[in-house]
Amino acid sequence: MNEQQRKETSQINPVKQTNEQIDPETNLQRLKNMESDELIGKYFQTTYQPPNLKKAKKRLKKDVDIHYDFSIPEEMKGIGKGKKFLIRTYGCQMNEHDTEIMAGLLTDMGYQPADDTSDADVILLNTCAIRENAENKVFGEIGHLKPLKTENPDLIIGVCGCMSQEESVVNRILQKHPFVDIIFGTHNIHRLPSLLQEAMFSKAMVVEVWSKEGDIIENLPKVRKGNIKAWVNIMYGCDKFCTYCIVPYTRGKERSRLPEDIIQEVRQLAAQGYQEITLLGQNVNAYGKDFDFEYGLGDLLDEIRKIDIPRVRFTTSHPRDFDDRLIEVLAQGGNLLDHIHLPVQSGSSEVLRVMARRYTREDYLELVRKIRAAMPNVTLTTDIIVGFPNETDEQFEETLSLVEEVGFEAAYTFIYSPREGTPAARWEDNISMEVKKERLQRLNQLVNEQAKQAMLKYEGQVVNVLVEGESKKDPDVLSGYTERNKLVNFKAPKSLIGKIVQVKITKAKTWSLDGEYVEQPSEVY
Ligand code: SAH
Ligand code: SF4
Ligand code: F3S
Repeated sequence: MNEQQRKETSQINPVKQTNEQIDPETNLQRLKNMESDELIGKYFQTTYQPPNLKKAKKRLKKDVDIHYDFSIPEEMKGIGKGKKFLIRTYGCQMNEHDTEIMAGLLTDMGYQPADDTSDADVILLNTCAIRENAENKVFGEIGHLKPLKTENPDLIIGVCGCMSQEESVVNRILQKHPFVDIIFGTHNIHRLPSLLQEAMFSKAMVVEVWSKEGDIIENLPKVRKGNIKAWVNIMYGCDKFCTYCIVPYTRGKERSRLPEDIIQEVRQLAAQGYQEITLLGQNVNAYGKDFDFEYGLGDLLDEIRKIDIPRVRFTTSHPRDFDDRLIEVLAQGGNLLDHIHLPVQSGSSEVLRVMARRYTREDYLELVRKIRAAMPNVTLTTDIIVGFPNETDEQFEETLSLVEEVGFEAAYTFIYSPREGTPAARWEDNISMEVKKERLQRLNQLVNEQAKQAMLKYEGQVVNVLVEGESKKDPDVLSGYTERNKLVNFKAPKSLIGKIVQVKITKAKTWSLDGEYVEQPSEVY
């Protein structure tokens, strides 16, 4: 973090805290009457510095500070009174959780959620940069928002998330979509209130993106989506630098939250009646590596399994850091579920080497063997990329054979997409789209077949299902997930929503199971 950012972080509240109650309307009027120079001098960062992927790549030794003293200045609290916000979220669970924090900040400013873009006073696009098509979707959506802005010039449109961390994206928005009011990144979400306020009074686009990660801010407000399942960040960033991946640049270096802060959050969620938590990080197995004491994900899970919350998941695991201590703790079961998402990316050791995954096909298979020995019922799922530069037919066949050998029950499969700033983007993207698509199709066929076979085993069995709500297709049907993450649809009273119930599976489909509610508890599969 540079000096400029350090100052800003230590001045999270640029306005002096007072106990005086300020009427939001009066405050808004006062701010409107101020000259814009005066406002800028008083509240806001004025110098625009574009984000820089090279700077984002640097990993400084400096420790990360943890702040527990965040609060929204009184003067900003009523700004959203009578107004509505809408946040569109793209990308991974990390972004979904960031959206919950932004919703918390906006709610504390008086905003209420809008049902639709036409009804919103603030629209934020929380973006994902992982593949080109993810970015294209967002640019399409920005284009769609333009007429709304023409109709209602007071509408505030913001772009945040991983795409904002890329200089090329910021430049493209500055040039082609000047109606966007705010651009901010993944490291300064807590600055949203100030940025929003600045955008309200400034004619120019407000751009604040930090190339280097900020500190950890513990007590940001959150409005969680639902009251059954919750995300809990355990770490931020990624230091793995797989050669195809933009995440280490957009999310900064690995920073772990302290165990006591995580445990306290999980306890609170348990007390609030949440049934399931998912611990989040780009590479959760690297949890604790940045501490100056010995403590890893296994140790953390060993403490969390003692908390009275029925289900605990974690994502995403990196095979390289999956250690024996973790396997030993997971094998104890209880609220630690029998499902591990373990991205492999490729079945060829040579492709894995150029991807810089730092394990071979044999290492991966050995890890799977160890996990299965300790957890015989485990369900394994994965992520796979096809068409990486120079991937030969034989190497792709190795991926197919690995999928079979491991017996993955589901996989997210992707066509390689070059990402500017990553090492792989400098190599020739020399597999034709036709071949890439053909490989993807063959892979998907195999994955679907395995998924279906895995589902068939459930027919006639009784499973525990956490009921999440009405099925999307039929409001008379309830749906939820098993411990091993299979979607189950069944008819039962709506009063069961939020509870863990038993369901007897009557029919297996490729991606879901149909079943009947079991009122009398029986032995589960
Ligand atoms: N941290 C996680 C994954 C984050 S991104 C991990 O390491 O497993 C989710 C998935 O997107 C990755 O697992 C990978 O399969 C895919 N992905 C990442 N970069 C990609 C790229 N440039 N092109 C295609 N797929 C990509
Ligand atoms: Fe990307 Fe690799 Fe980090 Fe996952 S571990 S986020 S694929 S760099
Ligand atoms: Fe996308 Fe950023 Fe997640 S690039 S996958 S939203 S970390």
